[in-house]
Amino acid sequence: MDYEATLSEAREKIDACADATSLKDVERHYLGRKGVVAKHLASIGALPPEQRKAVGQGANRLKQAVQQLVEARAAALDEASLEAERSGEGFDPSLPAARLETGSLHPVTLVTRELEDLFVSMGYTVLDGPEVELDHYNFEALNIPADHPARDMYDTFFVRANGAASGWAEGSRLLMRTHTSPVQVRAMERLDPPFRVIAPGRCFRHETTDATHDHTFYQMEGMVVGRDISVGHLIGAMRTLLRGIFGRDLGVRLRPGYFPFVEPGFELDARCPFCEDGCRVCKQSTWIELLPCGLVHPNVLSAGGIDPEAWSGFAFGLGLSRLVMLRYGIDDVRHLFGSDLRFLEQF
Ligand code: PHE
Repeated sequence: MDYEATLSEAREKIDACADATSLKDVERHYLGRKGVVAKHLASIGALPPEQRKAVGQGANRLKQAVQQLVEARAAALDEASLEAERSGEGFDPSLPAARLETGSLHPVTLVTRELEDLFVSMGYTVLDGPEVELDHYNFEALNIPADHPARDMYDTFFVRANGAASGWAEGSRLLMRTHTSPVQVRAMERLDPPFRVIAPGRCFRHETTDATHDHTFYQMEGMVVGRDISVGHLIGAMRTLLRGIFGRDLGVRLRPGYFPFVEPGFELDARCPFCEDGCRVCKQSTWIELLPCGLVHPNVLSAGGIDPEAWSGFAFGLGLSRLVMLRYGIDDVRHLFGSDLRFLEQF
């Protein structure tokens, strides 16, 4: 083999390649399994021994040299095609990059954040409370002693503390909180009056699920403690809340409601935001039941370490899951935590 001649011929062919495909062909011609180099190597066995070494070395040098030339040409072609793209007509460097898949916030999170903003703007503090709660906070301190019939309204899941590692004291009576009201008591223990707090969070009840009930749902507790707080303050605050949520003034009405931790206690209904004369959402009544509330019972203030002779307050328990459903026209609470992406992707 004339090494020099073969190599310069290869160089010519490689330099002449204008694209990656033709370069591949040339590469295969020299380096492929049946290529020039392979043929030379295969011929060695038939040669007289004194020629074998020179032919073998020549073939290997040729292989390396061709490999380098091919790589260099491939890099040059790449660079040239990039350059062509950059300077070419069709290239628009201002085009946005391909869209990344991103998640979205859950509707409960969206509404919670919106309400937090609204309340913070009215001087409220946002508090958190534990989802696994002591019987004391969920019931006792809320004026619902053991064996009180009102406990029937809050059938729940009871929990056993897992020894000292759980962080709960030995013998603690624990349960999944049935409402956010225990945070009222925790707030009174932590804060000096006057104060205003809200506490959004997850609650649990031992319920048979249907379109409007789930065993897990969200509420937002509110509590205001100050001097001479009256039902007037309560109604004013609730109207502001509803205006913030629905963007306009809705008529409200108070009905008596029984909750042992408020006295007097009410169910505050709002005019149905979707109709004038009855629809499916308001069950043809033109009113929607949204806000249980009332003036904080003196026993509850005392349980929280606040003197009921000096201070008074109101509290409310907004049904957050229900509000989210109203807001987005969701017809079944179970959609909220069914983890169906077809549902979640709409938000
Ligand atoms: N915690 C009550 C419930 O879940 C609602 C409520 C809160 C009522 C605050 C009055 C005041 O049923």
